[in-house]
Amino acid sequence: MRPDNSDVFELCSPGHAQAVIGLQWGDEGKGKVIDLLAPRFQAVVRYNGGANAGHSVVFGGKRHSLHLIPSGVFHPGVLSIIGNGVVVDPGALIGEIEKLSVAGITTNRLKVSSRAHVVFPYHKSEDAIRERTLSERAADSSIGTTKRGIGPAYADKATRSTAIRMADLLRPERLRELLSQIVPARNRELAAIDRDAEPCDADSVIEQAIGWGRALGPYIEDSVRLVQDVFASNGRVLVEGANATLLDLDHGTFPFVTSSNCSALGVCAGSGIAPRRLGGIVGVAKAYCTRVGGGPFPTEQANEHGDYIRERGREYGTTTGRPRRCGWLDLVALRYAVRLNGVDAIALTLLDVLAGLEELPLCVGYRIGGELTEHFPPDAYDLRRVEPVYERVRGFEGDLSGVRRFEDLPGDARRYVEFIETFAGAPVRMIGVGPDREQTIIRG
Ligand code: IMP
Repeated sequence: MRPDNSDVFELCSPGHAQAVIGLQWGDEGKGKVIDLLAPRFQAVVRYNGGANAGHSVVFGGKRHSLHLIPSGVFHPGVLSIIGNGVVVDPGALIGEIEKLSVAGITTNRLKVSSRAHVVFPYHKSEDAIRERTLSERAADSSIGTTKRGIGPAYADKATRSTAIRMADLLRPERLRELLSQIVPARNRELAAIDRDAEPCDADSVIEQAIGWGRALGPYIEDSVRLVQDVFASNGRVLVEGANATLLDLDHGTFPFVTSSNCSALGVCAGSGIAPRRLGGIVGVAKAYCTRVGGGPFPTEQANEHGDYIRERGREYGTTTGRPRRCGWLDLVALRYAVRLNGVDAIALTLLDVLAGLEELPLCVGYRIGGELTEHFPPDAYDLRRVEPVYERVRGFEGDLSGVRRFEDLPGDARRYVEFIETFAGAPVRMIGVGPDREQTIIRG
């Protein structure tokens, strides 16, 4: 049920959930949007991905970067849940908890799903070995993963017999039984792919896992019950997407995608929220496009325009530090993402970055093998063949970082935003004009 006059802060009614989803190839600035919305919700739950994601939130002049912990953690009254659909690297999680504690941020309202799957060191080794093997085969075939073991951990989840969940970390006997089988078998498999693969020592992995269980025990809970308790008391749940729509395993630019359903279509399975409880979707998009890792990117500008965007937008990976590939806004891809996710409101981020460019090309069509189309192709094969068709609008000047009302933006910036919402088919309700949580324009 959606209130008619949907306010972007509360698109859903009490007893329902609202999701925040990335509409491009990730790094759209979801962390800041979640941080702004979170105080109106009783819980924030993450439903997909792992330590491959990177969210940063800036407040009080300080940048806080998170990979696994939901951005809701910055609000002490809000329950922060790492949902069942996430793959958790316990070492990375413990590191994040410690970092927050040093910064004076409490994690006593953080919970980790007992159903979430565990990422082990052998998953990360496999990820790196597979990437290396792919890049040796052909320069453009590697996915460019974050090497955080995401794909191999989800593969184990689907295999079942080789998977370990967070609840298992609290059962030392079960860990010994499972890992003493899994680790030697995995060593043999990896040696068959790469003779130089470094084997893992089963006993140390077992001891490490038991230690993780001791450290994380107080956080591990049945997350589905926690979410249902919020609904039962007529509370609202904010769902935090990681990675983004065009990296979705089924609906992204396959095979250059991540290994989870990071579009809104994955929310229910990854969090235990019933589809009828999902009441509103905020889609987050940058005012331009970026991509890290391999795969086609039709509007990429590997030139001075791309460099301009990268430097002004600080477009370097939060997780890996890699320079991001930068390009013009692809409205064909954006409209596809809006429709796929059922977006109610767009949060357009980093508009200030584009100031100073004389002209802003917007991609409004694709030419594939001479044929013109406005549709986003279902895989990377056709996307590689795309020649973008641009509509060029006038750029804008000046420092937008102090603007707080849409009416106060330069006319050409307003027209740029209006062009986007008309083409994409959803209203732009939030506009980012700087990294700080305060540097945001809300449109009613
Ligand atoms: P993986 O998720 O590490 O397996 O990487 C698969 C692809 O998704 C690679 O191209 C990564 O660069 C990309 N990727 C994964 N997570 C993110 C993210 O949060 N932001 C941007 N790209 C990501």
